[in-house]
Amino acid sequence: LASIEFDVGAIPEGQSVTITWRGLPVFVRHRTEAEVAEARSVDLSELKDPQTDAARVKEGHEQWLVMIANCTHLGCIPVGEAGEFDGWFCPCHGSHYDTSGRIRRGPAPANLVVPPYEFVSDTLIQIG
Ligand code: FES
Repeated sequence: LASIEFDVGAIPEGQSVTITWRGLPVFVRHRTEAEVAEARSVDLSELKDPQTDAARVKEGHEQWLVMIANCTHLGCIPVGEAGEFDGWFCPCHGSHYDTSGRIRRGPAPANLVVPPYEFVSDTLIQIG
């Protein structure tokens, strides 16, 4: 299927699920307020791949983070709620991502990729 729908409403705050889209694993994380605040407080000059948190989420749905779950280094699947920036840690070669999925330390060259998606209702997303 080119696009899929997924209801995020059952994911408790502070938890993530991994779904599959076009054969790719996709993280859907229900961020806590603290995680959102942390992501938004970062100075863009500190980032290897500068991108605001607002550009990585949908307005009005800032607690939801949707990202392809492959490290942008060589494709391993990072571990959530880990690493030095409270986001994801890729154990393959040590890349640390923040609570917005942005690369902060390690060999990965870019932020975790946000796929094309939209909210079609308050909790239903369509990816692709
Ligand atoms: Fe993630 Fe190399 S694949 S750090």
